[in-house]
Amino acid sequence: MKILEDRIRRDGTVLAGNVLKVDNFLNHQIDPQLMDQIGAEFAHQFKDAGITKILTVESSGIAPAVMAGLHMGVPVIFARKHKSLTLTDNLYTAKVYSYTKRVNNDISIDRRFLDKEDRVLIVDDFLANGQAVQGLLDIAQTAQIKVAGVGVVIEKRFQKGHQLVEDAGIQLEALASIAAFEDGQVVFAQD
Ligand code: G4P
Ligand code: NA
Ligand code: NA
Repeated sequence: MKILEDRIRRDGTVLAGNVLKVDNFLNHQIDPQLMDQIGAEFAHQFKDAGITKILTVESSGIAPAVMAGLHMGVPVIFARKHKSLTLTDNLYTAKVYSYTKRVNNDISIDRRFLDKEDRVLIVDDFLANGQAVQGLLDIAQTAQIKVAGVGVVIEKRFQKGHQLVEDAGIQLEALASIAAFEDGQVVFAQD
């Protein structure tokens, strides 16, 4: 997505540890117009996938997920993060390790919001090591629902997440795909 790549070039900062800081349009301050265009693009890419619901994880996944849900006309569910869960009777839960923050979280979704007939699209802001996506895939498996696609705003293709989704045989769409960081500059993947 050209407009997103331009925005990353203009406003993104490459930090140590292969982290791209984009907190002036995606991760802290949010650009609603850009999010709207992102939602429209996801809707276009997954228009034939029969999506009934969108799943994401709080907090940074919510903005692009809601915009995708708006354009697709489907509800959006965000998994909640907890340090650890005790009462889980009415919840689907999964463990997620964050490499960036070096913390373990449990994520959960209330069982009421998922039905066996659902075909879900997973949306997130970043695909890095794929731990968040894996957690949602675990929940989908427990809930016996079909994951018909994964849509991410920005993927770092050189980390594990891209391969993880491909290996699961799930349609993956990244609106900006980063091949590498070189000398503090973003190198986008060509295809
Ligand atoms: P994953 O998201 O693919 O599972 O990878 P990882 O465990 O490496 O990422 C942990 C957190 O760091 C995630 O946010 C993820 O979105 C974020 N992240 C990963 N790489 C980058 C990056 O290059 N730039 C930025 N800005 N964020 C990155 P989270 O812990 O779920 O937090 P939240 O922001 O959604 O609250
Ligand atoms: Na995220
Ligand atoms: Na994040």
